[in-house]
Amino acid sequence: MSEVSFTPRVFSGIQPSGRLTLGNYLGAMKRFVEMQDEGRETIYCMVDLHAITVWQDPADLRRATRELCAGYLAAGLNPEKSILFNQSQVPEHTQLAWIFNCVARMGWMQRMTQWKDKAGKNQQNASLGLFAYPALMAADILLYHATHIPVGEDQKQHVELTRDIAIKFNNDFGQEFFPIPEPVIEGAATRVMSLRDGSKKMSKSDPSDMSRINLTDDADTIAKKIRKAKTDPEPLPSEAKGLEERAEARNLVNIYAALSEQSVDQVMADVGGKAFSEFKPMLADLAVDRLAPISQEMARLMGDVSEIDRILGRGAERAREIASPILQKTYDIVGMVGAKG
Ligand code: TYM
Repeated sequence: MSEVSFTPRVFSGIQPSGRLTLGNYLGAMKRFVEMQDEGRETIYCMVDLHAITVWQDPADLRRATRELCAGYLAAGLNPEKSILFNQSQVPEHTQLAWIFNCVARMGWMQRMTQWKDKAGKNQQNASLGLFAYPALMAADILLYHATHIPVGEDQKQHVELTRDIAIKFNNDFGQEFFPIPEPVIEGAATRVMSLRDGSKKMSKSDPSDMSRINLTDDADTIAKKIRKAKTDPEPLPSEAKGLEERAEARNLVNIYAALSEQSVDQVMADVGGKAFSEFKPMLADLAVDRLAPISQEMARLMGDVSEIDRILGRGAERAREIASPILQKTYDIVGMVGAKG
């Protein structure tokens, strides 16, 4: 097969399920904004179809989708520069996902750690959508011929599966139609951990609200959660190596580094030797300083959801302009009569 080069295009998505966390912000959204501001072509989705793979109350889903859009805007995404839309308004996502359901193998899906974690011991009772979730994610990405996918560490396996689907499709049909996308996992906080347990990921679905910082938390709540964060009795080491066996300490230092846009080594040079009683207030001040403007702007934007809905509607139109010809071409390659290849 000849080498085909694809125009660089960035795509990523976040589920509108629950509240946005500091993990979503540092692992994903902050990079989304940087990539937009580097002048790249950027498409960011609110993946409402992924969210319903586990039960969502309809009113909560509607609120969470708009709040996620408000979060994107408040963090610095600009609808003139990036395409912002919710997945269900672009039906091509589910259409391509069906094709990929027929390309992906059961064994590939069964190996997904997110499936194993989320379905738990009761796989028979999980939705079929939860199992097929990664094929829909592959469709999200490949529908735009996206090449760069900014995500946190926990999504790496799904982007790798997307690569496998693209490779198998291209091989099966004998043409290099889909690009092989690259995960972009960068920065000091690609895996932000729970504030209560340094071995668990910070997550919007953790039952304990004290385990996470939500982008909607006010300054007092942020400070309280950091003050109560689990740590150990030792002062901070002066080199990153000294954090290796100290998951909770490492997590707080990583958060500090990401929020202050420094490397972990730079942070260690400043805070090495300090007790947590001194470091935690520094971290709380920094977190409030960076996050309060975002939460205030989110609250302001949520005051006028008609503007948010307009942005999502316009984003969906622009997304379909790219997606529709790629889906038609895919149908044509697969052999569907009537496809406008
Ligand atoms: P979701 O909604 O779970 O998370 C959205 C993004 O936030 C990152 N993230 C974290 N990063 C660091 N530390 C954490 N504790 C943390 N928690 C979440 C995630 O890695 C992700 O980048 N399947 C995806 C959504 C999706 C998608 C896509 C992503 C659907 N289609 C296409 C990229 C491209 C998900 O559930 O993310």
